[in-house]
Amino acid sequence: MKAVLSIFLLASSVLAAGATHDDLQDWLNWEKEVSVRNLLANISPDGAAKGAVVASPSKDNPNYFKHWIRDAGLTMDVVISMYQMSHDPGERNSLFNRMADYMDFSRRNQETGNPSGGLGEPLFWADGSAYNLGWARPQNDSPAIRAYVLSRWAQVLLSEGKSDIVWQKLYRPEIPAYTVIKSDLEYTAHHFDESCFDLWEEVRGFHFYTRMVQRRAMKDGAALAERMGDFGAAEYYRSQARVLEDRITTHFDPGRQYIVSTLGRDGGLDYKSSNLDASVILAVMHGDTSDGFFAPTDDRVMSTALHLSNQFRDLYPINQVGVGVGIGRYPEDRYDGLGGGQGNPWVLLTNAFGQYYYRVAHGFESRGDLTITDLNAPFFRAALPSQAGSLNPGRMLHRGDSLFKDLVAAVRHQGDDYLRRVKYHTGPDGNLSEQMNRYTGFMQGAYNLTWSDASLITAAWDR
Ligand code: NOJ
Ligand code: NOJ
Repeated sequence: MKAVLSIFLLASSVLAAGATHDDLQDWLNWEKEVSVRNLLANISPDGAAKGAVVASPSKDNPNYFKHWIRDAGLTMDVVISMYQMSHDPGERNSLFNRMADYMDFSRRNQETGNPSGGLGEPLFWADGSAYNLGWARPQNDSPAIRAYVLSRWAQVLLSEGKSDIVWQKLYRPEIPAYTVIKSDLEYTAHHFDESCFDLWEEVRGFHFYTRMVQRRAMKDGAALAERMGDFGAAEYYRSQARVLEDRITTHFDPGRQYIVSTLGRDGGLDYKSSNLDASVILAVMHGDTSDGFFAPTDDRVMSTALHLSNQFRDLYPINQVGVGVGIGRYPEDRYDGLGGGQGNPWVLLTNAFGQYYYRVAHGFESRGDLTITDLNAPFFRAALPSQAGSLNPGRMLHRGDSLFKDLVAAVRHQGDDYLRRVKYHTGPDGNLSEQMNRYTGFMQGAYNLTWSDASLITAAWDR
């Protein structure tokens, strides 16, 4: 064992000396395969209905063997990308069938009476029956996510000439709605101004995350409605998106210089005094419609990311040594993956931060210029401390400037650091659980968390 280890260390130090070798890329290539396998295994597993996506195979301590609408939507979004990237007919066929099952299962969820009494019900048992126990409900991000993910799939089907499937199962203009997307869009359009629980299932109020994915549902839904000849609805969904934009803008707190996660709290837990929450960064990525609205490069978002990163760096003992910062949900978090206790860094959030930094780098690169502002200066200075003195508000940099290149490279490098944090705590089996213990770094909470796998795969793609 020792000999093997020292040969391994020797090999890796030789490799580290080679200028072009990228150990992170090697690990990501491997881990991505593990994650794809684990993610697919959590779709329609034994003991679940076809089309159900379990949040984790873990059936006790904690029991995550259930279909959460949110986790499932984010997972199937990855499946759509895999379908689009694949050239292998057999593989494409199998991914296509998974989407078909998910579509049917989703419609069944909508038709199943549940304690929310509407489409905001956050979860179902893996066999599709209603979850009739107490829970934080409704969670209105859920139907919005399901709507934008399935709208994306509908666009793929339309581009392949399969409009019959879209018409039969996904989108028909009639009201009351009998198709899954139309139902979710109508629900979202009519209920976004009602308070609901957040994606962490804890706080009731109005949430930046929920509003951002609702806005995307309205916008992407409008584009689909138009393609299906439902012009009045398209206009209505677009106008609701604009109302949401007004609401979303009020989440930026100029005094604290970050986007606050919840406004108008009227229930649920009350100890999130900072209102600083990593879900804001998820919101910006899940809610991205490539129109610049609260885009990754928005300086309000950049400032929020830096506040979060700094808080978690100071808060978690594992972040005092080594690679990049492990990111948790919010500083006051008491959920340890099982019950009450102390919150930890989360795999899916640390991966999402890596991905976010890649998107910032890519965003500026493709735009070709950037302006230092009061709000983004601290973010840029943290990325490139050696040039901090040159990064003053008002300064504009262009693609040709060496400082522009260095800055973009530094931001990308920071993205790598987050992924290195996850790499560091991942064992040889490649399992990605929900959390990483804040003292020891060991994986903790539900194992093979489907959403953790999804986050690793999409971060690797964006890199
Ligand atoms: C409390 C946690 O904070 C929440 O995020 C989780 O979904 C539920 N418990 C269920 O495990
Ligand atoms: C707890 C998380 O807070 C929530 O967002 C997620 O949907 C469930 N776990 C299931 O993974």
